[in-house]
Amino acid sequence: MVRHFGIVAALAAGACAITPKQLLQAPRRGAPVPNPSGKVALFSYSQYSFEEQSTTSAWQLLNLETGEITDSGLNSTEVNEAVWLPGTETGLLYINGTNEEVPGGVTLWIGDISKPLESKLVASLDAPYSGLKVANTSSGDLRFLVNTLAYPNGTAYNPDLAPTPPHTGRLYSDIYPRHWDTWLTKQRYAVFAGSLLKSSGYGLVNHTLRNLLEGVDYNVTRPESPVQPFGGSGDYDISPDGSTYAFLSKAPHLNKANFTASYIYVGAFDSAAAPQALNGPGSEAYEAGHQGASGAPTFSPDSAKLAYYQQDGDYYESDRVKLYVVDIDQGGYTTGNGSAVSTSNWKGLAPNWDRSPGSIAWAPDSESFFVTAEDYARTRAFHIPLSSDADFKPENLTSVTSITGIAVLPDSSLIVAANAIWTSAEFYTLSPNGTQNVLFSAVEVDEDLAGLGPHTLEEFFYTGSLPDFDQQMHSLVVKPSNFSENETYPLAYIIHGGPQGSNANAWSTRWNFQVWADQGYVVVAPNPTGSTGFGQELTDRIQGEWGGYPYYDVVLGWEYVRDNLSSFIDTKNGIVAGASYGGFMTNWIQGHDLGREFKCIVTHDGISNTESAFTTEELWFMRHDYLGPIWAENTTYSKWNPQDHIANWSTPQFVVHNTLDYRLPESDGLSLFNILQTKGIPSRFLNFPDENHHVLKAENSLFWHTEIFNWINHWSKGTDLDSNAIGQ
Ligand SMILES: *[C@@H]1O[C@H](CO)[C@@H](O)[C@H](O)[C@H]1NC(C)=O
Ligand SMILES: *[C@@H]1O[C@H](CO)[C@@H](O)[C@H](O)[C@H]1NC(C)=O
Ligand SMILES: *[C@@H]1O[C@H](CO)[C@@H](O)[C@H](O)[C@H]1NC(C)=O
Ligand SMILES: *[C@@H]1O[C@H](CO)[C@@H](O)[C@H](O)[C@H]1NC(C)=O
Ligand SMILES: *[C@@H]1O[C@H](CO)[C@@H](O)[C@H](O)[C@H]1NC(C)=O
Ligand SMILES: *[C@@H]1O[C@H](CO)[C@@H](O)[C@H](O)[C@H]1NC(C)=O
Ligand SMILES: *[C@@H]1O[C@H](CO)[C@@H](O)[C@H](O)[C@H]1NC(C)=O
Ligand SMILES: *[C@@H]1O[C@H](CO)[C@@H](O)[C@H](O)[C@H]1NC(C)=O
Ligand SMILES: *[C@@H]1O[C@H](CO)[C@@H](O)[C@H](O)[C@H]1NC(C)=O
Ligand SMILES: *[C@@H]1O[C@H](CO)[C@@H](O)[C@H](O)[C@H]1NC(C)=O
Ligand SMILES: *[C@@H]1O[C@H](CO)[C@@H](O)[C@H](O)[C@H]1NC(C)=O
Ligand SMILES: *[C@@H]1O[C@H](CO)[C@@H](O)[C@H](O)[C@H]1NC(C)=O
Repeated sequence: MVRHFGIVAALAAGACAITPKQLLQAPRRGAPVPNPSGKVALFSYSQYSFEEQSTTSAWQLLNLETGEITDSGLNSTEVNEAVWLPGTETGLLYINGTNEEVPGGVTLWIGDISKPLESKLVASLDAPYSGLKVANTSSGDLRFLVNTLAYPNGTAYNPDLAPTPPHTGRLYSDIYPRHWDTWLTKQRYAVFAGSLLKSSGYGLVNHTLRNLLEGVDYNVTRPESPVQPFGGSGDYDISPDGSTYAFLSKAPHLNKANFTASYIYVGAFDSAAAPQALNGPGSEAYEAGHQGASGAPTFSPDSAKLAYYQQDGDYYESDRVKLYVVDIDQGGYTTGNGSAVSTSNWKGLAPNWDRSPGSIAWAPDSESFFVTAEDYARTRAFHIPLSSDADFKPENLTSVTSITGIAVLPDSSLIVAANAIWTSAEFYTLSPNGTQNVLFSAVEVDEDLAGLGPHTLEEFFYTGSLPDFDQQMHSLVVKPSNFSENETYPLAYIIHGGPQGSNANAWSTRWNFQVWADQGYVVVAPNPTGSTGFGQELTDRIQGEWGGYPYYDVVLGWEYVRDNLSSFIDTKNGIVAGASYGGFMTNWIQGHDLGREFKCIVTHDGISNTESAFTTEELWFMRHDYLGPIWAENTTYSKWNPQDHIANWSTPQFVVHNTLDYRLPESDGLSLFNILQTKGIPSRFLNFPDENHHVLKAENSLFWHTEIFNWINHWSKGTDLDSNAIGQ
């Protein structure tokens, strides 16, 4: 029982501000996944302890009527993931992360949540598979999908059994030798299928799994699914009747560094015929100009339809995302290797809706689905009937907080997981008539979050710099938890990354605005040109304009604060901070007039020298945002280069740059720091050799927060600077 624990003790202790340590040691919860009858939902729970220096985890059960939370009894050390068994009330199929026969393998077990200790081992799998999805067929046989790395010959790769090569050389003849935080090897991810035969006590048919990507044609990019680095089981699906599968893979005839394009492949589960791309070259979708990245292939409950989304541009990663649905025609035609799936009645849904949905959940009657999409600085839910016409503009079903997950219950209600600046998690049901029933609220339960609430958040709109643009710019304002109306607080101005991204009313374990505000600042977090969630035009107009409109929007936002919010915000002792594109922007600010308005700057993994931008591997990004490759005419690499304005640099600057950041290599942070030092500008350099673009480990994150806050508090408030830095 976790519910209603701790709040009284925390309030009694007078806690009214959240510290970095509290942020990092507070529980983290996944979105609840309801059982087939919609009575209970399973979710993951984990918590880091600084005392023990370790994380504890659990699988917890949420009662969807009462909100009561109990431990499920599934041992989270052993159970990596669990899915409900369709057709049952409380049956589960789960992956046990150990395998007594095959080192590095896993096992599949059938169990029941009402008897968690009485599960049955049904299959031994010879590699570290994950991403389980299951269908219960009419015969009662179970068909499932999982994924893992595979050798070029299609066999699953088990690192524990692979021989160690005698040398460490990595030889490449194709562009894209590494991505995000990983150097490419010969192995690629693949989706594997297996069947558990009811008549044999759910034994694994053929004692093996089939690699579904085998046989897919390519001449440039080898098929891979899930798409790395962020793809998971959302990149593939199995129809509820078990007959059909679908997966996502990048365009096989385009190279991965220049293009974002990816297609949805479909195939018949019991056929050896190779899966076919339903929206690849030659398809109706492709010919109509929809050629970019695809996602979220999701079968309807009646198995007759597949919904997915796709962008138009084949190298623009932030192009508008559009929704599609096709009819699935089982046994549509026969190849030499068996029957294949054909698709028909391909149709765009809400094609003129100016938002970019990010997930799809079907209604039980297969006549509509729900999506989530960014909308005015939060992620909201929307409902899309298949019968809607082209001009249909979905209305938001949710309002204030940001949705992190939705699932549909048998009565068409939603179970929603959401968060906000003031809470790490809220679970509620949302009835078709709009009634919300809150089942769980982390701020009422978690000691570390005690005292947080919506009272610290404000928003304002101001006139930005874009000509011929009819919207105002948006900005968040986050006050300290113990805000007093008789005090002013220095400004912490925080610029978001992307640049196609947003500062949203959402909880973050990395840039948590409440934690920054509770150092005694008012955080102002603007959404300048380039931001997402306000319509595609605002997003698109940053192209070729990195230091242009967004910079002037940031200046105008700062002037708005100075001129209108001075009763509680002190801009004279303000600081500016940003990561990624936000880091680029802080470097641009350092070289321009706005840089003189801050006591110090904090830059996390940001570009300082745009002329070296080709050290990244996401060349599609440079090609789009800088108007071509580095050698082309009329690009903007030199136009918006922070290192062309070094003469103006003079504000103390804290530089973070991590070694595993292959997207923005650490050389940019090092040259930035070397220039600051050589010019005699007070500066520090913080590096994590084991972190990528993000700082994810709790102890590293605590050090990151401690040193950054020490820096801003010194320059803004005159506190002592610590002596933790490594000297000469
Ligand atoms: C859970 O599994 C771990 C690892 O096998 C074991 O050490 C631990 O005792 C188990 N916990 C319970 C409550 O059974
Ligand atoms: C599959 O669904 C049927 C009902 O459609 C049910 O009787 C059967 O128990 C389910 N299979 C498993 C393994 O739970
Ligand atoms: C996981 O598998 C191990 C054997 O590899 C077994 O001892 C343990 O009981 C299993 N745990 C669960 C929860 O299935
Ligand atoms: C595939 O390649 C791996 C690594 O070379 C090898 O161990 C495995 O036996 C091969 N599988 C088949 C079916 O040839
Ligand atoms: C099992 O093997 C047989 C013979 O190779 C093949 O026809 C069948 O499709 C396989 N079944 C599965 C589920 O892999
Ligand atoms: C790959 O195939 C496509 C047609 O599908 C063709 O346009 C392209 O030139 C081919 N590329 C290479 C490198 O062979
Ligand atoms: C049948 O499968 C084989 C082996 O995967 C493949 O080479 C061949 O192209 C396939 N033929 C058809 C018509 O799909
Ligand atoms: C939709 O969003 C608006 C703000 O844009 C909000 O006022 C309204 O309450 C939301 N609708 C629902 C049903 O939450
Ligand atoms: C809305 O639906 C729920 C059940 O889904 C019901 O309990 C509630 O009374 C309904 N509210 C209104 C205002 O109709
Ligand atoms: C602010 O100052 C006024 C006048 O001095 C005082 O009445 C009020 O209590 C103060 N408010 C707070 C929150 O301290
Ligand atoms: C990548 O795109 C650029 C244009 O930005 C083009 O010049 C180059 O040939 C492409 N490279 C490959 C390998 O397709
Ligand atoms: C570059 O800009 C000049 C001046 O506008 C124009 O004449 C030229 O065609 C452009 N070059 C390219 C490759 O677009």
